[in-house]
Amino acid sequence: MGGRDATMVLLDENGIRCDGRKVDEPRRIMIKAGGLKNADGSAYIEFGDNKILVGVFGPRDVHPKHMSDTDTGILRVRYHMEPFSVGERKNPAPSRREIEISKVIKEALEPAVMLDKFPRTAVDVFIEVLQADGGTRCAALTAASVALADAGIPMRDMVSAIAAGKVADTVILDVNNEEDQAGQADMPIGYMPNLEQITLLQLDGILTPEEYKKCVEVGVNGCKLVYELQKKALNDKYFGNGGD
Ligand code: CDP
Repeated sequence: MGGRDATMVLLDENGIRCDGRKVDEPRRIMIKAGGLKNADGSAYIEFGDNKILVGVFGPRDVHPKHMSDTDTGILRVRYHMEPFSVGERKNPAPSRREIEISKVIKEALEPAVMLDKFPRTAVDVFIEVLQADGGTRCAALTAASVALADAGIPMRDMVSAIAAGKVADTVILDVNNEEDQAGQADMPIGYMPNLEQITLLQLDGILTPEEYKKCVEVGVNGCKLVYELQKKALNDKYFGNGGD
């Protein structure tokens, strides 16, 4: 959370947020399965003004070999932001933040992927953030699940993700960049809707125990909405006219 910007009205007297949304309204979400012909699976997501492309490769041989595991497959995730994805040019070298988000997304996906089905191999997930506007880890995690399914990787469930948060002492769904910077709390949640399990939960900011519970509830409900769009993206590619 950045310091609060006194000039910014995050929630007006009618309960409308700085980008015109209601408190429980997600941004516009568009997910497309497929698109990269050289990847085994791929997905593209627009989550508000976030634009993210994900390519999945594998299961394939592990290099260096000593990283392989005879009992299970391994998942490797690289989250990368293009230098032009944010207002102030980002250094192309991997930042600590990108390394941390890569780890967070990998750990959020692992419970969903049946890694034991392909021992000694690796599945690589490459995430390219083309445009960022708050909530990229959730959008990336959501798209990565679709790309893994598109690659035909055996999965227990997909992980759907969205952030809940708090602005002007009010719990909100789907925190944008301004709300992240000037708001009171940001809680990204990754959830497997069929298994009813949370695989990612982070909290930046301060909440009362009641607000915390509300954020989890609002976030989980938001994940269920995201899940429908993930399934639609896969249905459109494999059973509809949206495939390639
Ligand atoms: O994107 P997410 O909310 O998952 O992660 P964050 O570290 O909380 O970053 C919030 C937002 O800050 C990003 O989505 C970007 O819009 C912005 N950001 C930026 O402007 N410059 C950076 N080098 C990193 C992030």
